[in-house]
Amino acid sequence: MLSKYNVITLFPKLFEEWKNTGVISNGLNDKIFTLNTINLREYGIGNYKQTDDAPYGGGPGMVMMVEPIDKAIEKNKAEANIFLTPSGAKLNETMINKLHTYKSINIICGRYEGFDQRIIDIHSDYEISIGEAVVSGGEVPAMFLMEALIRRLPGVLGNSESLINESFIDGKYDFPVYTRPETYKNMHVPDVLLSGNHKEIEDWKKNNLKDI
Ligand SMILES: C[S@@+](CC[C@H](N)C(=O)[O-])C[C@H]1O[C@@H](n2cnc3c(N)ncnc32)[C@H](O)[C@@H]1O
Repeated sequence: MLSKYNVITLFPKLFEEWKNTGVISNGLNDKIFTLNTINLREYGIGNYKQTDDAPYGGGPGMVMMVEPIDKAIEKNKAEANIFLTPSGAKLNETMINKLHTYKSINIICGRYEGFDQRIIDIHSDYEISIGEAVVSGGEVPAMFLMEALIRRLPGVLGNSESLINESFIDGKYDFPVYTRPETYKNMHVPDVLLSGNHKEIEDWKKNNLKDI
């Protein structure tokens, strides 16, 4: 399974707090996977470590240059290179399973108006979108993608049963869940969940999975 994650980004600090949080932090401490953030600026060109330039043909914004990313990838080889792009294949469980056939991946985060097409033509094994909305950079999509991948690694989730009924896994959404108090603003937890009858509880859960 996929246990080595490299993220190529202009903003590695964005990942620091996330790496120290919840299942990501636990998995790193337990050495279930490794996660390296690679600062693209270090591969920038010239004294100013330039990584972007104006688009040929004109137009707004800047474009991420091919050479810094090419160098960063050549220096940090992985089995597959994933470029995050709004126009990429939509992330879903089939894609998550496919990506787990690799041991290591590079995730390349775009910014500005996106990547010079040539870096995608040279190195891309996958272009992935996390949804039909555009955000300002690939860093949040990279965290989204990695969390979806990492929570599948054996030992990362405290209770691996959490995965069994998880939304999308069997073509359904998860069932509704409740915790204390039993009544809130006159709304009651379904009686069956308080019954202690395991068979009826399991039946209720199965019958309350929502269709996708
Ligand atoms: C402002 S966006 C580029 C938008 C570009 N003009 C377009 O419409 O495709 C900058 C970067 O954010 C990342 N990004 C934004 N939305 C994304 C999405 N839905 N899925 C994956 N990456 C996304 C990509 O890495 C992209 O290169």
